[in-house]
Amino acid sequence: MRPGYASGFETMRSLVNDRPLEVTGQLPDWLRGTLIRNGPGLFEAGPDRLRHWFDGLAVLHQFKLGQGQVHYRSQPLQSPDFLVARRRGRLYYSNFATDPCVAKFRRLFSAFFPRLELGANANVNVTRLGERFLALTETPMAVEFDPRTLSTLGVIRFEDPMADNLTTAHPHHDANRGSLINVTLELGPRSTFRLTELLPGATRRQVLGAFPVERPSYLHSFGMAENWFILTLGALVVDPRKLLLRRRPFIENYRYEPERGTTWALYDRRTSRFQSLQSEALFTFHHVNAFEQGSDLVVDLITYPDARVVDSAYLDALARAEEVPGGQLRRFRLGSTIRSELLTDLSLELPRIHPTRLGRPYRYVYGMSQRPGTSRDFFNMLARIDVTGGPELTWSESGVYPGEPVFVPRPEGTAEDDGVVLCVLLEGSDSSLLVLDASNFKELARARVELAIPFGFHGSFYTL
Ligand SMILES: [Fe+2]
Repeated sequence: MRPGYASGFETMRSLVNDRPLEVTGQLPDWLRGTLIRNGPGLFEAGPDRLRHWFDGLAVLHQFKLGQGQVHYRSQPLQSPDFLVARRRGRLYYSNFATDPCVAKFRRLFSAFFPRLELGANANVNVTRLGERFLALTETPMAVEFDPRTLSTLGVIRFEDPMADNLTTAHPHHDANRGSLINVTLELGPRSTFRLTELLPGATRRQVLGAFPVERPSYLHSFGMAENWFILTLGALVVDPRKLLLRRRPFIENYRYEPERGTTWALYDRRTSRFQSLQSEALFTFHHVNAFEQGSDLVVDLITYPDARVVDSAYLDALARAEEVPGGQLRRFRLGSTIRSELLTDLSLELPRIHPTRLGRPYRYVYGMSQRPGTSRDFFNMLARIDVTGGPELTWSESGVYPGEPVFVPRPEGTAEDDGVVLCVLLEGSDSSLLVLDASNFKELARARVELAIPFGFHGSFYTL
């Protein structure tokens, strides 16, 4: 039987230039701006099929809100991957879990491209650096786009020694310097994670610090506190030679090796030096927040006891409605020892917080969840967790699948939950934008798109 969420993993039926949406309910007067979201939107090219949720070719989505109205627009990102797929009607570049060269042309292509050749299917996140808007993934290149039209402006290739290194799609903003801080990974006999800084207008990143490892972990995001950057190097690790040989798609070279435990690479921003701690094995995609409390460094993560969640996002597994393991919101206190505690019994993924609470003590995490007992369903609930122990809030409707909830603060608000949560819902073959009051999780408004928007990853709200 076709799962109720199936159209969330299918190519979009059409793309939309600019469409006013039918709104039910009442949008707050102060809510004016643009939600830009990124995610996979095209899952095939001619006879070639992508294999994994994370592989889909990027489509950008824009919801423009103001004066009680919502306008929607979508555009495919004109990445090299998309352009080649459109021109040739085949897939060419390797992706997270799909490598067309592995299947058909490996010998031929490896003669020409002995290095790790990844495209720029920047389908994971969007960010702003000065006046530039960038679509991001974990390959070395970012793709610049126009936030008003969503048209692609070009691929940014960095002119520095890390130009062919892997990176993350979750950079942090340094508010004082206006820069983007990210992590790169140089593969080699001894691989090196580097913290890098990119200033507006620059194409060379400055290296803040380096952390060499023998077996690099898969790193999707990292934490930032006032004086620290935190690289949580979990137990899903790779032999770099396997990545370079390309006998398997990217992520299938990684192995969960719990005996290696987790290495916490902690960069002290005051001394510009790394130190490290060890704890039990875990897997994580997302850091939620981090802050200092007394002599402890508090790090909140969405963790898993292993990396099966990666396997659960293959499109075949999703079509069969196999189990989707739930993420656990876990707090780690890094001091003379490492202690961890589970902050809620609800599962959580794609966690978001109030944008100005990053790096500071905070109270609320918003995320996608699963109603208890429905782990063979996809994410079918939104949750707000109070990390100080207050009651949880949830929102769900039968047959409705929410994406990442983006918290937008009311401009004059002071309470941490004074604002709304914006979330794209999939309801059968339709999607809509849901606006929830963040303080009580009551629905304020909903704007129907009349088109299924595939499940995306991350987005941000801008006052454009
Ligand atoms: Fe992410």
